[in-house]
Amino acid sequence: MKTLSSLFENNRNWAQKVNREDPEFFTALSNQQNPEYLWIGCSDSRVPANEIIGLRPGEVFVHRNIANMVIHTDMNCLSVIQYAVDVLKVKHIIVCGHYDCGGVKGAMSNQSNGLVDNWLRHIRDIYAKYETTLNAIEDEKSRTEKLCEINVIEQVANVCHTTIVQDAWKRGQELAVHGWIYALQNGLLQDLHVCVRELDELSAIYRLAIDGELGG
Ligand code: CO
Repeated sequence: MKTLSSLFENNRNWAQKVNREDPEFFTALSNQQNPEYLWIGCSDSRVPANEIIGLRPGEVFVHRNIANMVIHTDMNCLSVIQYAVDVLKVKHIIVCGHYDCGGVKGAMSNQSNGLVDNWLRHIRDIYAKYETTLNAIEDEKSRTEKLCEINVIEQVANVCHTTIVQDAWKRGQELAVHGWIYALQNGLLQDLHVCVRELDELSAIYRLAIDGELGG
């Protein structure tokens, strides 16, 4: 089992299928990528970006990490955002969280998970920031869901606070930042209605979304 041959077989079958449907597909894609979207999502294996939104290779630029976080000192994530905005000129950045996120649950428990606890510390900070709101929710499942939503909203704000996005807006580049959440139970996405298209919109939308009813 050194070669994981079944995966290579899957790959050959997939490439053949794509080729049959569109013989020019790989040639065209190998010359350039022109995605309209940057997806920032969770690494969770159940939340694959392309599949969920029905996009083919070449149509979405993707960054995933545990609990879909945008940390201001994370050069990996910042480089992805910078390349997507400045070079690829994506029109939309989608921060997509999901309910039942292991990262969010881990941050809410006292159990130690090793190194990853340092990463999840950012979510603990978010919990502390909204402690009053969260602690008022008695049902643990609902409280976890609320933190999953708040985490997305916080990360949307973090994206908007980057120099990359602010510079793009200053030079008049069309760029919208969205916050979505995905439900593992039914495969459906929900818009958290925190879309930001310019700097002026940021604080108002951010505040409304945290205080008010989220989603539908
Ligand atoms: Co997750």
